[in-house]
Amino acid sequence: MGFFDGLKREKRDIDLISQQSQFESENSSDLREEVDSEELIEVIERPAVQSPAQEIPAPPLKTYKDKAPVKHVIGQTKIIAIINQKGGVGKSTTAVNLAAALGSLGKQVLLVDLDPQGNSSSGLGVMKSQIRNCIYDVLLNDEPIEEVIIPDICEGVDIVPATINLAGAEVELVTEMARENRLKDATGSLRGKYDFILIDCPPALGLLTINALVAADKLIIPIQCEFYALEGVTKLLDSMKRVKSRLNPTLDIYGVLLTMYDGRTTLSRQVVEEVRNYFGKSVFKTLIPRTVKLSEAPSYGQAIITYDPAGKGALAYMDLAKEVIQRG
Ligand SMILES: Nc1ncnc2c1ncn2[C@@H]1O[C@H](COP(=O)(O)OP(=O)(O)OP(=O)(O)O)[C@@H](O)[C@H]1O
Ligand SMILES: [Mg+2]
Repeated sequence: MGFFDGLKREKRDIDLISQQSQFESENSSDLREEVDSEELIEVIERPAVQSPAQEIPAPPLKTYKDKAPVKHVIGQTKIIAIINQKGGVGKSTTAVNLAAALGSLGKQVLLVDLDPQGNSSSGLGVMKSQIRNCIYDVLLNDEPIEEVIIPDICEGVDIVPATINLAGAEVELVTEMARENRLKDATGSLRGKYDFILIDCPPALGLLTINALVAADKLIIPIQCEFYALEGVTKLLDSMKRVKSRLNPTLDIYGVLLTMYDGRTTLSRQVVEEVRNYFGKSVFKTLIPRTVKLSEAPSYGQAIITYDPAGKGALAYMDLAKEVIQRG
């Protein structure tokens, strides 16, 4: 083989390689075009984006008849109203998280949402579309409370939800017979079925709150660690005394709970001192700290012990639940 033959073969090889790479690059761009056009077709054919609520219809909730049997013997049921006519002091946050904490400690708890805002219901993930009847139907349409209970909303916890319908109850109850006793009559049938019944009250001293005061054995009064913390408390205590003297002689304060405590501020520490001076031993030792997680949890429909189990908020509500159980 001559020198030039070798050169020719090398050139042929180089030509072959460049032809091959050209073929490959042409093919791959074809392939890309194919993929692009497929994707394009797919994008065009895809239906308009739907809202999550439309895509996933809320599953129907269990009814009281489907409730799993309680595994322990239930002693005396304690009905506790979480009450303060002042708005935004942490009533619903306490109702939801104390209920969940008591449930996780093995107690059977019923949470009654008595506020038309329905914050306790949504805070435990009950969607408005899932609610057939609410506490309004119990108070005004003689619906048995068992028909309205949504069982096992979280460990050990059942809930009686509220909807905006309840807003009409304040006015409609006025003309009803025995209007202050409606909730007491309804919850009376549940004594012996739950360890605790917690009632989340609305921020007013109207007929709904009076119903809670008549139905309850004890009160938990959340007080926010801020300016004017004790504002309105005298009025609340006055309402309590009036109900106690006429309709519910055993009514008493179970505990005063300091909420949204921020140990870094002098104000928070001053409020704790002021409230302890005013209420004495009634004040729970547990202070509920101000934490972002506690304010985020309701938007996920979860109690804090599920949403952020190791956080400060969850630990505080677990401590509170233990204190509540100890108070007996
Ligand atoms: N410890 C806390 N740390 C941070 N945010 C909190 C805490 N407790 C409550 N919040 C937030 O403060 C607001 C008021 O709380 P919540 O709804 O529990 O009060 P409320 O007394 O039930 O109000 P209302 O009187 O309107 O029913 C909510 O946005 C809640 O997420
Ligand atoms: Mg509330």
